[in-house]
Amino acid sequence: MLMSLVIAHRGAKGTAPENTLRAIQLAAEQGAQWVELDVMLTADQVPIIFHDPVLVLSAEVPLLVKDTPWKRMQNLQVAAPVGSKEASAPIATLEQAAKLIHQLGMGLNLEIKPAAKGLGELTLKRSLEVLEKSPALNLVISSFDFTALQAAKQLAPNIPRALLYETLTKHWRDEVRNYQVRSIHLADVASLNPTIIASIRELGLEVYVYTVNSVERAEELISWGVKGIFTDYPAKFTRLIATTSKRVSAYGDPV
Ligand code: G3P
Ligand code: MG
Repeated sequence: MLMSLVIAHRGAKGTAPENTLRAIQLAAEQGAQWVELDVMLTADQVPIIFHDPVLVLSAEVPLLVKDTPWKRMQNLQVAAPVGSKEASAPIATLEQAAKLIHQLGMGLNLEIKPAAKGLGELTLKRSLEVLEKSPALNLVISSFDFTALQAAKQLAPNIPRALLYETLTKHWRDEVRNYQVRSIHLADVASLNPTIIASIRELGLEVYVYTVNSVERAEELISWGVKGIFTDYPAKFTRLIATTSKRVSAYGDPV
């Protein structure tokens, strides 16, 4: 198994400011063994953990991440989710996140999320440079961006790669072959069904699904052969994690 049954999406995004060190810490406290984070580059090519290419600051003109140097961003705060008791938290660099994930003994699914079109390869390269200097981690690199996956295949062939799709493309089998991925990460859309999961598994790949915040839905997906789910609320899945190893699905995997 490449990752774990439950992966904390952008950290424990449901209860903490997403993609921050606090979100990673809280994910660990909620029992997650793996965390998914998005990485993009600032104007001065610092890999930061951030989801949106645009920084919206209240009463200010929005800033584009790709045009903003790290020095300008490092004092900015990511807001906690509405209703959360958590405080806002600073934007984290990949270097800071990797160090914390190592201390917590977690795995990292790093999603390469270029801040603009054409930055996939550079984002991958700069991220690898940081990871090479960081303590060793269990890693999976995923992306919607094919240029990032191509660069990962060339520069870090031993780190497992994953294709990210909302739904499978017409040419997904060619893409699997081109980028030599080990898993496919799919959105939890209404059209997802056991046949789709089975067609991916036939190629020997694992399937992970985002974003699943219902335990019942997670159980259904796992019964279809999905290996794990990305969730904003790892704490909801404590019982599922505890009972998983004791049951086996019709597809021969733990449920
Ligand atoms: O990697 C799974 C998921 O994070 C992809 O969507 O928009 O949340 O980055 P998004
Ligand atoms: Mg993501």
